[in-house]
Amino acid sequence: MTGEALRLEGIHKAFGGFVALQSVDLSIQAGELVCFVGPSGCGKTTLLRIIAGLESQTRGRVIQNGRDISTAPPSARDYGIVFQSYALFPNLTISDNIAYGLVNRRRARAQIGARVKELLTLVGLPDSGPKYPSQLSGGQQQRIALARALATAPSLLLLDEPLSALDAKERERLRGEIRQLQRRVGVTTIMVTHDQEEALSMSDRVVVMNHGRIEQIGTPLEVYEQPATPFVADFLGKVNVLRATSLGEGRYLVGRVELATRANGYAAGMAVRLYLRPEDRVLPDSGPVEQMANAMRGHVLGVDFLGTYCLAAMDVEGFEGQKLLVYFSLNQALEMGVREGATIPFALRGERVRVFPSA
Ligand SMILES: Nc1ncnc2c1ncn2[C@@H]1O[C@H](COP(=O)(O)OP(=O)(O)O)[C@@H](O)[C@H]1O
Ligand SMILES: [Mg+2]
Repeated sequence: MTGEALRLEGIHKAFGGFVALQSVDLSIQAGELVCFVGPSGCGKTTLLRIIAGLESQTRGRVIQNGRDISTAPPSARDYGIVFQSYALFPNLTISDNIAYGLVNRRRARAQIGARVKELLTLVGLPDSGPKYPSQLSGGQQQRIALARALATAPSLLLLDEPLSALDAKERERLRGEIRQLQRRVGVTTIMVTHDQEEALSMSDRVVVMNHGRIEQIGTPLEVYEQPATPFVADFLGKVNVLRATSLGEGRYLVGRVELATRANGYAAGMAVRLYLRPEDRVLPDSGPVEQMANAMRGHVLGVDFLGTYCLAAMDVEGFEGQKLLVYFSLNQALEMGVREGATIPFALRGERVRVFPSA
């Protein structure tokens, strides 16, 4: 499958006086898995519902496989959908739940039986057909909801926070399963999530939304490493924000410390904010830090232990009070003696620094 599967043109949505979506343009390629990610209330579900025809846009067009479906009712559109709550029919067996759309389309019984069996196997629950939804775990119910959505072999799969109601372990397992299943079936998929980690780990491309607008579209690596706006940098992970003054030619002054970066375009004297992730540092275990660019020493104010890694809050010499969060793997922290009161040499990765004008 190649080519454009879905195109949104100038989608605008107002609920009374409240603008929920503004000028949303987006093109999704066949076979892609795209996540809409952003804080609660930013318009993700509204956009998904407009694609599904469950909500009508105030302005703009929805084009699916070259066909303008802007005003088509849901029944005339080609998609399967899964919501956060499992939404299986409690009084129907698992098999009948999956068969629901096929029965509606008056497929032959033998054909339906074979398809249900195939789908049960696809989602890894081959023996659950005779059971009822209440006999399955949350994760199993979501697998069935997925099978039901795929039953009619739609060309588009829409998922609205399908993992949000699950516990952490189950959520992680299903992430991988959905991704694998999506690749195997090849169905173009849009998933809504407020969880940045989920979006980064599952997507071919991430659509970062805020206040009814798209802030950035890109691969997970692009949006994480090259955020287009402070909002994207902040939303997609931990980030240090440092007040600085431009010295011109990619050099910046933080307190009394001069940093070399690759971020040009800010005239000398301009007040800016430097954005730098806690992992964008070089530690002495990869060579003598003192000889590197942007070398510094940090006094550890405190360490947040987060399992496989730690975040150390540092008071950096010369930063004049601006604190820096620095990431260490647990082993690095133990080997280097990263604990409250310790002084740790390290260097910042200047090439990773993003610069934005001061607000
Ligand atoms: N039917 C509606 N009537 C009025 N406001 C709505 C309606 N549906 C959604 N909204 C508002 O639109 C905004 C976006 O909602 P939604 O798309 O559900 O956000 P998200 O899914 O990103 O959390 C929210 O402020 C929400 O309150
Ligand atoms: Mg929502």
